Amino acid sequence: MQGFFRTNPNIVMHFMEFFDVKKMAREAHVLRLGHRPYRDLRLTTHVALISRALGASSMILAEKQDEGVRSSLNKINKIWGGQFEIKTVEDVREFIKEWGEGGGFSVHLTMYGEKWTDGLIKELRQDQSKLLIVIGSQKVPHEIYELVDRNISIGNQPHSEAAALSIFLYEIFGKDTLYRDLPNARQKVVPSPRGKRIEKLSSE
Ligand SMILES: C[S@@+](CC[C@H](N)C(=O)[O-])C[C@H]1O[C@@H](n2cnc3c(N)ncnc32)[C@H](O)[C@@H]1O
Repeated sequence: MQGFFRTNPNIVMHFMEFFDVKKMAREAHVLRLGHRPYRDLRLTTHVALISRALGASSMILAEKQDEGVRSSLNKINKIWGGQFEIKTVEDVREFIKEWGEGGGFSVHLTMYGEKWTDGLIKELRQDQSKLLIVIGSQKVPHEIYELVDRNISIGNQPHSEAAALSIFLYEIFGKDTLYRDLPNARQKVVPSPRGKRIEKLSSE
């Protein structure tokens, strides 16, 4: 058996990759602070689409429900599959506290946070508790910095919650997540060098 692995190093590599992918499959949810219904609809919808496409399971809005975001995401789920959810919470501080008390882990993305390093990302990938990713829009109250488990920066310049979230989710879930097939999709994209190719998966 040992000889088999020695002469087939690729098999060992595949095993390692397999277990690494398993480790990376932690459940992630995005908490978007400061969403102003109607005014921020487009960016919040983009944040939800990014969360869904890059591997998160839900986006939680810390303001009144915005039916526009919810209905856009429901339409996307119906066509392209999956069960990505939009939820709302009334008391953000309580929500983050309870997340930790329930065994979850929370990170807040902010330019003022700890430097994003390969070591930190590895640590976050290996942790299998439910991950809450908190992002802001305008000024985030200081209390949030205290409530979360880690404040992490994605570079030391101000940019956007959409960019910070994309980079962070990509680092946690990796490239394969971008090309995964979601359950109950009605259609899927057929990659092609030009034009748009779609494969219908059900007649609904
Ligand atoms: C308009 S920016 C405000 C930038 C803000 N001064 C901050 O704390 O990062 C809105 C949101 O984008 C995210 N963001 C912007 N730049 C970031 C960076 N360099 N690293 C991590 N998150 C960032 C944060 O979640 C922030 O609340």
